[in-house]
Amino acid sequence: MMPQPTTPESALRLDLNEHTGGCAPEVAAALQALTATQLACYPDTAALTRAVAARFSVQPDEVLLTNGLDEGILMAAVACLGLRPHAALRQSAELGSPDARREMIVVTPVFDPYLQAAAAMQADAVIVPAGPDFQFPRQAVLDAITPQTRLIILNTPHNPTGSEIPIRAIAEVCAAAPHALVLVDEAYQDFGQTSCISALPSWPNAIVGRTFSKAYGLAGLRIGALIGAPALLAPMKRATPVFTLSTPAVTALETALQHDGYRLAYVDQVRQSRQRTYDVCARLGLRCWPSAGNFVLIDGGERYRALIDGLRARGIRVRDRSTDPSCPRCFRLTTGVLAHTNRALAALEDLCAAPQ
Ligand SMILES: Cc1ncc(COP(=O)(O)O)c(C=O)c1O
Repeated sequence: MMPQPTTPESALRLDLNEHTGGCAPEVAAALQALTATQLACYPDTAALTRAVAARFSVQPDEVLLTNGLDEGILMAAVACLGLRPHAALRQSAELGSPDARREMIVVTPVFDPYLQAAAAMQADAVIVPAGPDFQFPRQAVLDAITPQTRLIILNTPHNPTGSEIPIRAIAEVCAAAPHALVLVDEAYQDFGQTSCISALPSWPNAIVGRTFSKAYGLAGLRIGALIGAPALLAPMKRATPVFTLSTPAVTALETALQHDGYRLAYVDQVRQSRQRTYDVCARLGLRCWPSAGNFVLIDGGERYRALIDGLRARGIRVRDRSTDPSCPRCFRLTTGVLAHTNRALAALEDLCAAPQ
């Protein structure tokens, strides 16, 4: 049973792609039941690692649990963008020289933490513009690969556009850059169609990132995972703090994985919410893009500022993406529990009906 909005006035956070219904009630109960002694102890992640491996049908040594996928992204950057290339991918001595350029390839609109991670490693971000209608710019990404490319981050479903990258395009990128690590960021894959995890054995230079912030509703506890061959994960494992997950986070995810029906019910709500958003946008003459995530990117047209501000004034927070030149006039609406989405869409209809 998904929690519903409490009062019509209560604010709706539809700006960060969080789970709008909260975590499963069993998770909240398990956290409340933690004892003082349990909280005094460092966490043991062995059982949780096995449970996460089972969830994704991989071996425990193919899993690295991180403090949110944000930390996983940073660890991939630490492993690949430092002065020494990733040991399992090193191709030539020249690449390891201290003054060699170190490049990371990403596609617009870019998820900011990718750029932060490259900046932290003093590496260069090579930013490839998305194709028409935010399609994956396959050829442009292939053309951007150089001997200095160390890390390529491919986000599918893509935040904020919701588009998915065809698996064969990811395979091509992996094959064209055997000297680079390809991190497939699947933060929103619980809501999408096809995960790359089962393809990893045939891609020797790729890993997948997942998060438990979205479909599991655990954003406040900070848990993500990197999944891939042990040799690829090794430098990330060495760099990740040994107790990076808290005891409450471990308890929460162990419990959440035991109640997977809650996640599946939410995925169903998200699918209904997305469809409803497409329908309302079509009726209002607002352009939006089909999404495989728990959000929809909407072009607010000439009135975009009034729509974003008007929604906020009504207690509905959406993510303003209009300042990004790759998606001008756009805002992103988190499409979670249907009742929440309906409230946001009713406000949008109202604002569109107002005289301009
Ligand atoms: C594309 C993408 N990758 C990674 C993350 C990070 O997720 P986490 O909450 O696990 O750090 C997010 C969160 O919004 C995201 O949108």
